Amino acid sequence: MSIAISGLTKRFGQTDVLCGVDLEVSKGELVALLGPSGSGKTTLLKIIAGLEWPDAGRLAVNDQNWLQLAAQDRRIGFVFQHYALFPHMRVRDNIAFGLSVRPRSERPGKAVIAAKVDEMLHFLQITHLADRFPGQLSGGQRQRVALGRALAIEPAVLLLDEPFGALDAAIRRDLRRWLRGVHDATGSTTIFVTHDQEEAFELADRVVVMGEGRIEQIGHADAIHDHPATPFVARFMGATVEFPVTLNSGRAEASGLDISALPRRALPDGPARLFARPEDITLIPDAGAPWRIASRISNGAHLRFVLSHPALGEAEADVPRRTANADALTPDAAVRLRIEAGTIFPAERGIATTSVRSPGFEPVKEKSR
Ligand SMILES: Nc1ncnc2c1ncn2[C@@H]1O[C@H](COP(=O)(O)OP(=O)(O)O)[C@@H](O)[C@H]1O
Ligand SMILES: [Mg+2]
Repeated sequence: MSIAISGLTKRFGQTDVLCGVDLEVSKGELVALLGPSGSGKTTLLKIIAGLEWPDAGRLAVNDQNWLQLAAQDRRIGFVFQHYALFPHMRVRDNIAFGLSVRPRSERPGKAVIAAKVDEMLHFLQITHLADRFPGQLSGGQRQRVALGRALAIEPAVLLLDEPFGALDAAIRRDLRRWLRGVHDATGSTTIFVTHDQEEAFELADRVVVMGEGRIEQIGHADAIHDHPATPFVARFMGATVEFPVTLNSGRAEASGLDISALPRRALPDGPARLFARPEDITLIPDAGAPWRIASRISNGAHLRFVLSHPALGEAEADVPRRTANADALTPDAAVRLRIEAGTIFPAERGIATTSVRSPGFEPVKEKSR
């Protein structure tokens, strides 16, 4: 089933939670909604499911206006992060649930339901769990069962809200591959919500990046990674170091920075801002350069540098430890910063252009959390 969403807005009290969302999902597509906590992902899913209503906008599935349909008439399969299975029901009864509560006139016979459940168990490779209670399952097994329960009704649209969010990184990776296989085999139209970039990019046909109730960018992994459409996406994708620059005929210039590796940009002359990843900054010893190494910390594979500039403030760089010039990069050394990759945005987007912004040193976080 294809989904067409346009102009969707939703406000809770004083807060604009969705500010005009437009999104089309093709039949059989798997789309990931990626965004930080609070960006409106769950609200958007709930509106599609009929658990929440928008203030304005349209939602059509196969050209049918779903905003006129009650939740139970939409044939939605929904899996939440903490979707409690019914604890007093065995796995097979949990999976049968959606079919066995249908109105009597539409309810399949007992034998048909049992056959459907067996088919689901086999398809999801959880036949051995059929007679267990949820309390006897691991977290990953529970989410497989939850997906079985969602799929048993043959949903028009499958909505997954951080379904693997509570699981360990290794199990998440297994389930990701498994889910992709299930999706391809059922041909369902699926929207998968996550705040984990790796999960979104590895799983989805297209990724929709959301920030504060708006879609910031839609695309494939490489395009979002290399060509963030907005400062928000650049930061979200790890370009956490920001330098004030001046654009001159499409070339960026700044004190102590070598930006010649970046392509010319068709942007107006004047103040702008360069966003770069700490690992895309190369340090070149240069006695005349204004940047100084303030600190150097090794985490084994990489050297983390904090750099300081007398006028601009501090920036962070991340260099492989086996870099040829690593021995020369000692505290107090003067360095030039060569920016190997980055994105420049014009100043008129309301971003500061007078100082550096950098996250400072942070311990490496587990990416999937
Ligand atoms: N029922 C509600 N009442 C009031 N505010 C809500 C409600 N549901 C969500 N919000 C607010 O809407 C914003 C987006 O929430 P949500 O859609 O859950 O985001 P996400 O799933 O991306 O974390 C948050 O600021 C949240 O506090
Ligand atoms: Mg959410």
